[in-house]
Amino acid sequence: MDRYVVIGNPVAHSLSPSIHARFAEQLHERIEYSALLAPLGEFRATAQRFFDAGGCGANVTLPFKVEAFELAHVASDRARAAGAANFLARRGERIEADNTDGAGLVTDLRGNLGLELRGASILLIGAGGAARGVLGPLLEQAPRRLVVANRARARAVELVARFRAAGNLEACALDAVPEGAFDIVVNATSASTLGTRLELAPSTIGAGTLAYDMAYGTAARAFLDAARARGARTCDGLGMLVEQAAESYLLWRGKRPKTREVLAALRSGTA
Ligand code: ATR
Repeated sequence: MDRYVVIGNPVAHSLSPSIHARFAEQLHERIEYSALLAPLGEFRATAQRFFDAGGCGANVTLPFKVEAFELAHVASDRARAAGAANFLARRGERIEADNTDGAGLVTDLRGNLGLELRGASILLIGAGGAARGVLGPLLEQAPRRLVVANRARARAVELVARFRAAGNLEACALDAVPEGAFDIVVNATSASTLGTRLELAPSTIGAGTLAYDMAYGTAARAFLDAARARGARTCDGLGMLVEQAAESYLLWRGKRPKTREVLAALRSGTA
């Protein structure tokens, strides 16, 4: 049976095994997909052992996405642009890297939430690995304005410089976001995961805003509650997780699973 894993640390509570089990069932395929814990500092050895033993592909989650990119022999344009990979596949003797996070976010925003990204004003908060993975795909949607705001302004400036050629991009400090509500505000920081507060100027979120947290469940709550208090429509990152998984499945196996039912099952707690 073809074997896949999600590698991370921690990884025990990852939803990816149950998402991929549902995809395989839906497509009448038999695959094995499990969670693989890599000790910190041992990502490369862990991934290499898995592939040497015949593993077909891996999703990679925190904190190993940059190491995953560095491990691969070849990388897609979008993985190269992000400098990080959440997807690895063995093709013969070589390991290929890709980054399906941005496609996952865009599909969730457009397909599941019905948003028009072309011409929209978007505020992306954060400039770490999570923000880096989604910036290119967001830009490809041709928003009217895309502002990257980060607590440490220098990191936002550096990130924007990597993508400057690709579109209309601005960088600023989190406490200097331009006045006025954005159409879409995406939280790509680790503030809530770390249990810290995200200080965001109230004017950036209004009744016409979709506030999106790339984390899901309780980790997304603080940001989304604050946005809801300003009248915004809100959504956590569960849809992004399912969509990046579907994109991964397609790349590995050439078939795109349907995501709507899987997402609904996860939301209702039956998956
Ligand atoms: P990840 O791979 O999850 O993006 P990272 O590379 O460590 O993790 O980046 C974490 C991001 O969350 C950074 O943009 C960080 O801001 P700084 O670069 O200024 O550190 C952001 N972040 C974490 N806690 C935050 C907080 N309390 N308020 C604002 N931003 C925060």
